[in-house]
Amino acid sequence: MTDQTFSMHGKHVAITGASSGFGAHFATLLAAAGARVALGARRLDKISEQVAGINADGGQALGLALDVRDAQSARAFLQDAATAFGPIDVLINNAGVESGAKTYAMIDEEDWDFVMDTNLKAAWRLSKYYTEQVLASQQGGGNIINIASITAYRTIKGQFPYAVSKAALIKVTEVMALEAAKFGIRVNALAPGYILTDVSRVLLESAGSDEFRKGIPMRRYGEFADLDGPILLLASDASCYMTGSTLVVDGGHICAEM
Ligand SMILES: NC(=O)c1ccc[n+]([C@@H]2O[C@H](COP(=O)([O-])OP(=O)(O)OC[C@H]3O[C@@H](n4cnc5c(N)ncnc54)[C@H](OP(=O)(O)O)[C@@H]3O)[C@@H](O)[C@H]2O)c1
Repeated sequence: MTDQTFSMHGKHVAITGASSGFGAHFATLLAAAGARVALGARRLDKISEQVAGINADGGQALGLALDVRDAQSARAFLQDAATAFGPIDVLINNAGVESGAKTYAMIDEEDWDFVMDTNLKAAWRLSKYYTEQVLASQQGGGNIINIASITAYRTIKGQFPYAVSKAALIKVTEVMALEAAKFGIRVNALAPGYILTDVSRVLLESAGSDEFRKGIPMRRYGEFADLDGPILLLASDASCYMTGSTLVVDGGHICAEM
């Protein structure tokens, strides 16, 4: 019963930003759980390594060049994934960037556009194209997972505009869930706390990191494996009555004393 509830067998999952970090980890995990996985990102050498590893372990993975800031590339990613592996059951909008430890007064137009286009606009764009695809293929529904962040709720100085993009992504999740329910498409978000990757390196490897970590009730940063249960829940039919929800996975950071 439990195995079936969380099963990914027969499902096709397309993941943006899967060349490293969370995206690569999700691809490996979901493939091991039985899904066919399409990995997209700009660094094709890294994508190829991930795909080779998954396929060598008996999984079914496909690597595709993807720049989420480019509309044509986004459309081609979804089309090529569907051509190779059939209708996409789950889209994970995971690609994300930060602009360094900068305040609102320090960033320039380029920083704003870089972060907002990648973290926010691209999630809308991919979701829009995915919805069109779901309707055209008459597959009967779909599932979108947006990778937000604890910074949407608890931020610190110097996370502008990253934190703003992630807070908006949660609102995007809620509004899209409302509007997509009639298409049978569920939309949820995962808001991880801090886990060491290239996106979080500036903070987690800074001089103030130890002190910052003590502010997390569980007093540790997360590990990739801490996201396994939550992403399986959202990607599988175990969450079939969930839409518009944001799952916070952060060691209690959200409820820490100020
Ligand atoms: N690490 C944390 O503590 C943390 C916490 C909460 C949320 N998150 C979120 O988790 C997601 C994954 O980040 P990560 O921590 O795993 O860092 P990461 O290892 O740097 O992964 C970011 C991924 O996004 C891809 N990407 C960036 N720009 C792209 C573009 N224009 N087109 C396509 N792909 C693009 C990168 O691939 P290419 O460079 O190859 O294109 C890379 O695969 C992000 O949305 C991040 O905001 C991270």
